[in-house]
Amino acid sequence: MRRFLKSLLNLRQARQIARSAQSNSVRTAAHSNTPILRNAIDRTALRSIYSWQVSKKTQHASSTRRGALSRSMGVNANVVPRTVVSPHHQLSFDNKRVYIPWDEGVTSSYHNIWLRDSCQCSSCFHPITKQRLINTFSIPATVHPESVEALEAGLKVLWANDGHESFYPWDWLHLHSYQPVLEKHLSFRRVLWSCGDVQDDPPVVEFANVMESDAGVAEWTSKIKLYGFCFVDNVPVTPDDTEKLINRISFARQTHYGGFWDFTSDLAKNDTAYTDLALGLHTDGTYFTDPPGLQLLHLLHHNGSGGESVLADGFKSARVLREEAPEHYKTLSRIRIPAHSAGNEDVCIRPATTSRPILNHDEATGELVQVRWNNDDRSTMDRWEGGDPDVDVIRFYEAIRKWHEIVTRPEMEYWFKLRPGRALIFDNWRIMHGRSAFDGERRLCGAYINMDDFDSRMRLTNLGRETVLKYL
Ligand SMILES: [Fe+2]
Ligand SMILES: [Zn+2]
Repeated sequence: MRRFLKSLLNLRQARQIARSAQSNSVRTAAHSNTPILRNAIDRTALRSIYSWQVSKKTQHASSTRRGALSRSMGVNANVVPRTVVSPHHQLSFDNKRVYIPWDEGVTSSYHNIWLRDSCQCSSCFHPITKQRLINTFSIPATVHPESVEALEAGLKVLWANDGHESFYPWDWLHLHSYQPVLEKHLSFRRVLWSCGDVQDDPPVVEFANVMESDAGVAEWTSKIKLYGFCFVDNVPVTPDDTEKLINRISFARQTHYGGFWDFTSDLAKNDTAYTDLALGLHTDGTYFTDPPGLQLLHLLHHNGSGGESVLADGFKSARVLREEAPEHYKTLSRIRIPAHSAGNEDVCIRPATTSRPILNHDEATGELVQVRWNNDDRSTMDRWEGGDPDVDVIRFYEAIRKWHEIVTRPEMEYWFKLRPGRALIFDNWRIMHGRSAFDGERRLCGAYINMDDFDSRMRLTNLGRETVLKYL
């Protein structure tokens, strides 16, 4: 079926599907249960999804500008826009701000001090290190232009206080317009899944592709971002090769379990992970301020029975919770869960700052960004700050009971057997993992990666450095 689709759909069709998936929202795509859609995106158009998402607003704005430009200047609409300011309105400035009337009918205003501080010239912004060189505190609070000039490629400002000349490309000004905001910053699509969406055709990449090229890393990281997990096939069954594999994304994160692990069920670290007991669905490192971003696991050897692995999509579970029991969703987004790791004599880790709830949201956008769930690592809950223990204690137990019930529904749990040669990597801020009990010798290796390091690699390999840097 997959091969048939792959041959059936050319890139253009796949792009159209990707676009309609985007416009129909993730929810529709995730609920549609149509492997056609998923495969089409998966196999052929991942890069186009990203570039399209990144430039959606820009393209709209640019095409508006291009259209206007081509009408007014009679040039080919495909020519890169040379100017974006309105031909009918003047640039202006006063003691506080510079005003740019865009051709699309809105005017952006930029505070003088912001503009001066953001000067993109090579003496104010280091072209190689991408760091600010200007001494912000040498800018007078009353800084204002002597003159402003619309050049073809951008805005020239001559500053009254020191005669410095700044230049800002039009696209840069449009992208970074904050009053009003005109363009979205980078965001990436996720496909939320239940077991039925992934069990027959889980995301997978080839070891050789990842090792040989950054395009292979782009495919790998984009699948991890989309689905929250990905298998890597044909990994040589050695810790060395597995470590080389993870290093294609980033260095391993050091924790009290070490950096790159190679472990058996010998209880070497006094943690349940190092036993042969069953492990319920959980995320790792709920006791860290910054839980590990990704986890890679590679089974090197197992000569017994049991030890099946399970994954569940925490973001999908959260959506189901919000739909079925919005009051419980609120509770799990609010009540902070203390957690600890204290099995080793010389270790007692708790979040260095305040504890976090199970469901964590971006403070600016309200978007769910992190699930932290490990009921075994929860500490004694003797502080109910910002709430009322009279009601919150009962509310909390009701909410986690419902959460547990949703997470462990058969349709949410994706069970599979790890095998030598097939490594698994998953987003530990989104995907919960667990395993059944086992017997025999079982040897696993793997590592954590910080989320920021993954994110950097994912963006750079999928979008290219030039695009990524534009948004800084
Ligand atoms: Fe774990
Ligand atoms: Zn400058």
